[in-house]
Amino acid sequence: MRLTDCHNIADFRLLARRRLPWPVFDYIDGAADDEITKRRNTAAYDDVDLVPDVLAGVETIDMSTTIMGKQSALPLLLSPTALQRIFHWQGERAVGRAAEKFGLWFGISSLSTVSIEEIGATISTPKLFQFYYHKDKGLNRSMVERCQAAKFDAIALTVDTIVAGKRERCLRSGFSSPPRLSPRSAISYAIKPQWALNWFLREKFSLPNLDTHVSEGTGQAISIADYFNKMLDPSMDWKAAQDIRDRWGGKFCLKGVMSVADARRAVEMGADAIMISNHGGRQLDGSRAPFDQLEEIVDAVGGRIEIINDGGVRRGTHVLKAMCTGATAASGGRLYLYALAAAGQAGVERALSILRDEIERGMKLMGVTSVDQLDRSRLRRRSWPE
Ligand code: FNR
Ligand code: LAC
Repeated sequence: MRLTDCHNIADFRLLARRRLPWPVFDYIDGAADDEITKRRNTAAYDDVDLVPDVLAGVETIDMSTTIMGKQSALPLLLSPTALQRIFHWQGERAVGRAAEKFGLWFGISSLSTVSIEEIGATISTPKLFQFYYHKDKGLNRSMVERCQAAKFDAIALTVDTIVAGKRERCLRSGFSSPPRLSPRSAISYAIKPQWALNWFLREKFSLPNLDTHVSEGTGQAISIADYFNKMLDPSMDWKAAQDIRDRWGGKFCLKGVMSVADARRAVEMGADAIMISNHGGRQLDGSRAPFDQLEEIVDAVGGRIEIINDGGVRRGTHVLKAMCTGATAASGGRLYLYALAAAGQAGVERALSILRDEIERGMKLMGVTSVDQLDRSRLRRRSWPE
């Protein structure tokens, strides 16, 4: 299977599975417990249908929108995801360059393998830094100051990882940051020679936004679950979020809000945006899908805060359904991560090109010429079987 055989996100997933050692693929593809929420995140879009208008004259359409004050070529943001050097040697550089080429926001994780400074200096399109609130207060201050100096466009405080989700695939594989070769997993790395060569011969793995203060994750191999439970501060609360927002002073987003009550508190605290998200099903399995939750949150706080529908997006029509429901934009991680793992920057660019074409084709077939025409009149929720 080659890159040119990839015609949708599911194809990239298959190619990524062929090219990655299985512990690495399972870290990307996996989720918490029975992975019910991960599956529901995508299935949720199947419970509503689009109602097209015709004869609308759609020769020229405008797919652009504004997200947190910045122009975006599509109503789609690339969500922050950790450890990308492990998936492909180009890592976050590939994602940033592809996002820049397509005029999209993209985010880097606190556990990014490329520094805040490099991304700030090399990627001109809007970028956000995903902030993990650590026990180490000096590290927290350092990350905010580095984002200010690097002129990042937003900070997204992740609020759904107060303890680690139970990632059973990672428990079985022993996946860690950086990867440790166990007797069981060593073979999986050995039979992926291209990955192994790139891992050992290309730039050394590091977590440059963290290793100024902590060795866990770079010098000390650690599972993500153990990193969360050992390094992140479980006392994080609304006051802590307010302190980070006030110290940062720029556009501020809460990533992982799911309840109407929390959405209202996000408005009260002065957040600019919320990402309705369950972390791709990787945290609380059994929690509701963002798309299922979106309508009641839009009804409660729409127009008072920007609402990004994060997770489960695998098709352009998923983005259109979220927009019709009232989202400011949609976002996702695996929608570009499989492509990164499969083929680096060329893979991510192909995936973004496919999603852009699907959004364009969907808008034209719906008879809309701009994203602000996407409203609930164009959706019908399937009634549940009696
Ligand atoms: C993530 N996600 C994530 N979120 C975050 O706030 N900080 C992080 O470091 C990461 N890392 C990460 C790694 C991997 C491999 C995945 C798959 C996801 C969650 C991510 O930002 C986003 O919320 C989900 O990926 C959305 O679900 P989909 O689009 O992957 O279905
Ligand atoms: C994850 C963390 C890093 O989901 O956010 O793996």
